[in-house]
Amino acid sequence: IPVERIRNFSIIAHVDHGKSTLADRLLEHTGAIKPGGQNQILDKLQVERERGITVKAQTASLFYEYNNEQYLLNLIDTPGHVDFSNEVSRSLSACQGVILLVDSNDGVQAQTVANFYLAFGNDLVIIPVLNKIDLKNADPAKVTQQLQSLFDIQADEVLKISAKLGIGIDSVLEAIVTRLPSPKVARNGPLKALLFDSSYDKYRGVLSLIFVKQGSLKVGENIQSCYTQKQYEVKTLSLLRPQEQPVEQLVAGQIGLVGCNMRSSQEALVGDTIHLFGQKVEALPGFQPIRPMVFAGIYPMDQSQHVNLRSAIEKLTLNDSAVSVEIDSSPALGQGWRLGFLGLLHLEVFSQRLNQEYGAEPIITAPSVIYKVKLKPTKQNVKEGKDVITINNPALWPEPQQIEESFEPMVIGTIITPDKYLGPIMSLCMERRGVQRNATNIDNDRIMLQYDLPLCEIVIDFHDMLKTISSGYASFDYEDNGYVSSNLVKMGVLLNNVAVEELSSIVHITKSQTMGKKLVLRLKEIIPRQMINIAVQAVVGGKVLARQDIKAYRKDVTQWLYGGDVTRRKKLLAQQAAGKKKMRMIANISVPRETFIDVLKK
Ligand code: GTP
Repeated sequence: IPVERIRNFSIIAHVDHGKSTLADRLLEHTGAIKPGGQNQILDKLQVERERGITVKAQTASLFYEYNNEQYLLNLIDTPGHVDFSNEVSRSLSACQGVILLVDSNDGVQAQTVANFYLAFGNDLVIIPVLNKIDLKNADPAKVTQQLQSLFDIQADEVLKISAKLGIGIDSVLEAIVTRLPSPKVARNGPLKALLFDSSYDKYRGVLSLIFVKQGSLKVGENIQSCYTQKQYEVKTLSLLRPQEQPVEQLVAGQIGLVGCNMRSSQEALVGDTIHLFGQKVEALPGFQPIRPMVFAGIYPMDQSQHVNLRSAIEKLTLNDSAVSVEIDSSPALGQGWRLGFLGLLHLEVFSQRLNQEYGAEPIITAPSVIYKVKLKPTKQNVKEGKDVITINNPALWPEPQQIEESFEPMVIGTIITPDKYLGPIMSLCMERRGVQRNATNIDNDRIMLQYDLPLCEIVIDFHDMLKTISSGYASFDYEDNGYVSSNLVKMGVLLNNVAVEELSSIVHITKSQTMGKKLVLRLKEIIPRQMINIAVQAVVGGKVLARQDIKAYRKDVTQWLYGGDVTRRKKLLAQQAAGKKKMRMIANISVPRETFIDVLKK
């Protein structure tokens, strides 16, 4: 197929606006899959099915006939959640256009706005599509109005479809052919290919998804990475239809999967340029390594599970190059790892996969963002050039007298909400130390708010809180906005006067009092009563801010059960024993494994 008849595109949408459903319909209409088959072909992982969100981008090549000519349409699937927004941008780098899919009942949401600007900033052609027009409460006219006032989109550009019922699918395919340009590629010249995603296969190692920008690539050729300089022999090439279809060659304009015995996905850097060995080319622009934003410690329940957990983490990170891994150890939890994630959902998805795919149930500590601390000058740190240090683990926070200034990461948050929830949402943002940037009416009962917010205030439960106070109607997205100076302190936790570093956190000084009170109350709820009294204290710089006591309980849970119902009694004892298994002894106190992460949720 000549380059002029190739189109590369993505569907971008807010969560649940129907991206996977539309992708299925496009596959059916182009004959790639049979109608009525398994739904949501592109969402492969079990986690994705359960949570209904796309985590890992998947891609498919479709053939479509238009005006008696065959076109190759490369659909590049993108994840639909704030945590994964840089997976969206990497997928977009291989596209010339996007379908901006908006639910015609929900209207424009925070991720619609964020995705629009990502596409707009990449100079992509945008095809606005309203989905779910079959819904009783659909209001396409109103949503069209929103698109017009926010993005200057003209009403006659907007397509109206129902992905579920298969209405208007041809209009989408036609728009892709007629409105999008073909990729700017050259079939002649040395190979230049963009690596934009990777996955791991047990037998073939890392499989990299590439977009060939120039030249061609054949099985058996030797390739080299511009970034790592490493060389590989191409073992397999395939198109995704969406099942793999082996081919001998990929040519400029095509998207395909390369197997080249790459052992670790850390070598498959997204945004990297691939060329033939010995034919050096200038790297494609836009290489941006993925940066984890949220860090947490992962420890085995007991050290006998260390080897298994290590192998599970290794296997999972092979498939998810966005997770960073460092070895770590903690006085109370022993040998473990410190992992970096794109956000809290990414962390939760990772731990769910550890559990589902490898049966691992590790202890995960409270997540932390990356802080920066400027140390007071001493001979030592001036000599070592360590005056500003980065800290992703509260346990490593320096003593107050060593700190000259501390800094925390900020984001610009976008919230879209019906205006009746404005009051509680503004209070929530204030409570989270947010400063309003602006507010825009997007139609007569919806408003878009933008706030400067500290990242640490939104990583744990901000999204959940926002959903709760707006009955699910408000939506949220954010982008990084650098570091600011901030008065931060480390809040420690003592259990019977023993400091438990794994429970410590970094808080803003103005919030330490209220946070301390909440923290000890929360721990009192989470930690079960035991044989001894437990004093739970929150401390900042040696000063106790709050205290709660967990009273000792009676020894035998079955004591109160009268008479001889032996089975009942056995069952209770068994339950108690099973409950114990998930506990970890810390400072002579059994602490449930979820404590470390639950303690920061409200
Ligand atoms: P993420 O993968 O999380 O981004 O979600 P998604 O955007 O892929 O949404 P998905 O396709 O999973 O659809 C979300 C829900 O909307 C599902 O329950 C679909 O059945 C439903 N849905 C999708 N399209 C339509 C439509 O045209 N009409 C109606 N009534 N429901 C639809």
